[in-house]
Amino acid sequence: MTVALCGAAVAAGWPERLSGHGGPIKSVMLSRDERRALTTSFDYSVILWDIAEGHSRISRRMIGHNAAANDARFLPGGKRAVSVGDDGAVLLWDLADGSVLSRVDTGDDKMLSLAVSESGRFLAVASWDRSAHLFEVRDASLVPLRRLTGHRNNVNAVAFSPDEKVVFTGASDGVIRSFSRADGALLREVHVHGWGINVLQLMKGGRKIAFGATDGAVAVVDIESGEVSKQLANHDRPVLALTMTQDGALLASGGGDGQIRVYDAQAWTLLERYENPYGPVWGMALTGDHAVAFYAGLDDHVNTWQIAPRKPFEPVGSSFPRRFQVADTQDPGALQFARKCSVCHTLTPDDGNRAGPTLYGVFGREVGSLPGYPYSQALLDADFTWTEKTISDLFDHGPDVVTPGTKMPIQRLKSVEERNALVRFLKQATASDAAPHQDEKEIGK
Ligand code: HEC
Repeated sequence: MTVALCGAAVAAGWPERLSGHGGPIKSVMLSRDERRALTTSFDYSVILWDIAEGHSRISRRMIGHNAAANDARFLPGGKRAVSVGDDGAVLLWDLADGSVLSRVDTGDDKMLSLAVSESGRFLAVASWDRSAHLFEVRDASLVPLRRLTGHRNNVNAVAFSPDEKVVFTGASDGVIRSFSRADGALLREVHVHGWGINVLQLMKGGRKIAFGATDGAVAVVDIESGEVSKQLANHDRPVLALTMTQDGALLASGGGDGQIRVYDAQAWTLLERYENPYGPVWGMALTGDHAVAFYAGLDDHVNTWQIAPRKPFEPVGSSFPRRFQVADTQDPGALQFARKCSVCHTLTPDDGNRAGPTLYGVFGREVGSLPGYPYSQALLDADFTWTEKTISDLFDHGPDVVTPGTKMPIQRLKSVEERNALVRFLKQATASDAAPHQDEKEIGK
């Protein structure tokens, strides 16, 4: 077993990477036939990819969340998908045209992940309102059924039993619980780990469930007895991803330490491990031929790593640091922009598919007026012009106060010096005749 410090090119038939999001990817899922993939991103979008025969083509870029999109799953049949995000919204998508068939806005609490039952009839969503939300997919609509309550902290992970009768939850209070899907009753505390449960994976057969926790623990629990049946290697940081091949033969864990570990889910031997050179791994999918892991982290693209046959060292063709890393610049305004804005805004004529519109030419622009950008109603209805004063006010009082109902996250710059520096920087960097060295790519260096 070797630990590669760099990635490797990938087995025939699989794409090397999925590029097209404008911010870090939160999740990656493969369709049942593994010819398509779904990704969600910090850029608020969900993308459907064609990955057949090694393609990495965008089939649909789906806009509908008003904050980071955290997780998306195909429904059986592959014609529809569901997604959840930081906006507390659950969306049902028509993959034929990328339209929203149904949406339920539950409030402001984050929803980190979801599970689809075997038949595709039920959905369970993990919410930071300390509950899991249960839905039924009826025709083209999402029908809220009930909330599963009794958690003492955020719910991070959910799973269905194969017969759809039981819903398992993993919460920040360190407990894995089971609920009756039919009436929402708490059945029992399956296992008490103590540290927050971040991720769950029900094992093939439905008698065991694997979990990953904030203390780095990865273990497999026997559901009937509640005992740990297999303790796997700890990550040095919280475990953020856990996935299984469709045949149930391989289980992989990914963590804040950038490690990916792949296990034989029968013998529980560690088959391979890999370290992402660019930080945490929080989204992952394994292919049915056991050859490739798709993984997501700080990058604005999904990477692939060839698990088997193991490839020798090959450098990753990737630029670093990422644009959202802290900039090495003397200009305090450029620094503010790099740290607080660049993950969602470019300064170039193109918005680069980021969550927010490009700020190129923003001074003198009517609020909410960039053609083609999907503004919130709040910004479309607002009636003023962006000037040094209005931009400064935006971050003095906060977007939620200046433009209530906006989908720009709440953030304030309380110091006048910081605001002035940011505005001064934006003034010259967003001018249409700005020199190319002010492009965000340079700021990221
Ligand atoms: C997490 C993503 C995110 C971050 C970070 C962010 N924004 Fe935004 N911003 C948005 C979104 C989304 C919109 C569109 C809001 C809407 O339609 O309600 C927006 C809109 C704007 C607008 C209005 C543009 C227009 O065309 O009317 C300005 C100005 C702006 N942002 C400036 C900034 C600045 C400056 C920063 C950094 C201090 C920043 N934003 C950080 C997501 C972000």
